[in-house]
Amino acid sequence: MEVYNEIAILQNRLSSLFSTGQQIGFVPTMGALHQGHLALVKEALAENDCVVCSIFVNPTQFDNAEDLLKYPRLEVQDLELLTEVGCQMVFMPSAQEMYPEGFKVEHYEFGSLQQVMEGASRPGHFDGVATVVRKLFDAVKPHRAYFGKKDYQQLLIIKAMVHQMQLPIEIVPCETFRETDGLAMSSRNLRLSANERTLAPVIYQILQEASTMAARWNTLQLKQWVQKQLDRYPSMELVYFEIANPEDLSLTLDASPSKNQMGFIVVKIGGVRLIDNILL
Ligand code: PAJ
Repeated sequence: MEVYNEIAILQNRLSSLFSTGQQIGFVPTMGALHQGHLALVKEALAENDCVVCSIFVNPTQFDNAEDLLKYPRLEVQDLELLTEVGCQMVFMPSAQEMYPEGFKVEHYEFGSLQQVMEGASRPGHFDGVATVVRKLFDAVKPHRAYFGKKDYQQLLIIKAMVHQMQLPIEIVPCETFRETDGLAMSSRNLRLSANERTLAPVIYQILQEASTMAARWNTLQLKQWVQKQLDRYPSMELVYFEIANPEDLSLTLDASPSKNQMGFIVVKIGGVRLIDNILL
């Protein structure tokens, strides 16, 4: 597997692939890779001639200094996992390479998409995500890029950014990969204590139960029910539970959710913020 740290050298290598008409698949990540990330890489491998995976813990998308500091970094293990699945290229830039002195985070207008849920809860987060992903797209110039539905709002933001900037890149959504107990895989799961890890599957259990009750209850009742479930666990704090339209994330506030809407949840366990969603 080829590893690159500099944009210019990566681009130079990729230009030889472009000239022979090879299709490039791209999987951007922040590392501490798990089977969810690797599922994206495998899907990219099945649909492209060459797959580039990037590993960069992007400082501009963190609204919380402690979260950035404690974000797991497992580079040696990540490279082993990527080699095992057959990924051809890894791009691991330094912060200096991605953000040379004087560089400013770009400001995007995604309208209501960025005003709800993660956008409301983490100010500046999506500007940081869109900025880094645009820069990574510019470096790799992939034909297809793969994003997980676990971070569903991020997926829509990236689609909107690609549309706004008219980038010739196909965004491929990938299903959420779960542990056997239902917990959505996440690099942040590594930060849970043993006790917190045994509690964490409750998040998806609550989502599943809420989705079965959505046919009978209105959104307000569902929200109250979710809050009540989490109140039983003093170490878990509900940041939000929302029902929204999967196309534009417009929120259903008090009416009964209709079929094909989605439930979105963020829960903090200890200091760790976990995100998940479900189709109702
Ligand atoms: P990261 O959290 O490392 O996730 C990288 C990609 O893997 C994202 O598209 C995410 O949705 C996907 N992913 C994470 N866990 C998953 C799971 N359990 N099942 C399926 N896919 C999963 O998301 C980011 O990094 C960053 O915001 C990034 C896009 C790299 C920009 O910095």
